[in-house]
Amino acid sequence: METNTWMEQAEQTILHTYNRYPIVLDHGEGVYLYDTEGKKYLDFAAGIAVQALGYGNKEYKDALKMQVDKLLHTSNLYYNQPTIEAAKKLCEVSGLERVFFTNSGTEAIEGAIKAAKKYAYEKDGKTDHEIIAMNHSFHGRSLGALSVTGNAHYREAFEPLPGIVKFAEYNDLDSVKNLVNEKTCAVIMETVQGEGGIYPATKEFLTGVKELCQEHDILLILDEIQCGMGRCGHMFAWQGYGVKPDIMACAKALGCGVPVGAFLMTKQVAESSLKPGDHGTTYGGNPLVGAAVSKVLDILKEQKITDHVQEISGYLEEQLEQLKEEIPAIAKRRGLGLMQGLELNSDVSAGEISKKSLEQGLILITAGNNVLRFVPPLIIEKEHVDEMIEILKKIFHQY
Ligand SMILES: Cc1ncc(COP(=O)(O)O)c(C=O)c1O
Repeated sequence: METNTWMEQAEQTILHTYNRYPIVLDHGEGVYLYDTEGKKYLDFAAGIAVQALGYGNKEYKDALKMQVDKLLHTSNLYYNQPTIEAAKKLCEVSGLERVFFTNSGTEAIEGAIKAAKKYAYEKDGKTDHEIIAMNHSFHGRSLGALSVTGNAHYREAFEPLPGIVKFAEYNDLDSVKNLVNEKTCAVIMETVQGEGGIYPATKEFLTGVKELCQEHDILLILDEIQCGMGRCGHMFAWQGYGVKPDIMACAKALGCGVPVGAFLMTKQVAESSLKPGDHGTTYGGNPLVGAAVSKVLDILKEQKITDHVQEISGYLEEQLEQLKEEIPAIAKRRGLGLMQGLELNSDVSAGEISKKSLEQGLILITAGNNVLRFVPPLIIEKEHVDEMIEILKKIFHQY
């Protein structure tokens, strides 16, 4: 069937909540994707920071196939081996002590917020606690996750949103300090803001917020959904700052393609927050996703992926900086590890550049206010960076 016919059928049946790019993707191999017409694309988006292992990793596929044959689902009324193993490995790499598996990043945020609220409730029996979140943050689209998302565009039509949430400026410690009062139960933020335009936290800010939280017995919730799982050169971006959260949300590359998220916490928070009956999910942490998470963590460790990311991201940064010097339309580069952004001058649209990239066989997405976002599979090599830069040069030279 022709691409246009597929697209027409999609628009007649799938709710139009996305303005999709006009291709129908069919399969992938390594860091390349292929559409139904056989056109090849270099992938610098990784399904929005999901496909850390790229496409077609044999070990990963074999683990999934084996689990499909064995057992897919049991519910959380019973134990299952793959998920116990996944939890053990996730606790080991994070240094956090208890995990709850969800079906998405958004649900991980919901659970993290509930854990923080319950922790505060256990302390004083009250329900009027406040959360401090960040302007330009993104934590998901459900009502709870939207309540801590600092972007009017996503929130406006759905207000009032649940809970009392106050918004501070990211990387401005005083703006957080000014919002703290005796009702504050948690501060939530991305370690590196993604959708907001690729802004890494400064060390001073993250350290300062952690100290502030400790001083006032406030829980620090870090959203590692996009920046975690090795993307920023450490298994979790906060490990590079030496700042440990009380609660962490992760998802995306956690399952490398199967829908799974998780929120994790310290033993101390676990013992004073969610108890049997306070939270649950039918699918979350079923044997299939358990097998996926367990294998992903094994492969990332075996491949020493954080070392690779540190090395290759240095090269990517260098090349993006050089491109910025060459191309007047590029205003700034910023990012951490393999989560990079190029902010464009206002007379050039990032959306338009990403459409032109697609025509040239490069998958690139945008973020925030006119930013090109680079979140490739973590297995990319220098030759892929060079290929991407060549395509971008060709496009930008038309401006
Ligand atoms: C930082 C961050 N938090 C939360 C989410 C929501 O995750 P999901 O789309 O898996 O629900 C996203 C998704 O882009 C994200 O980037």
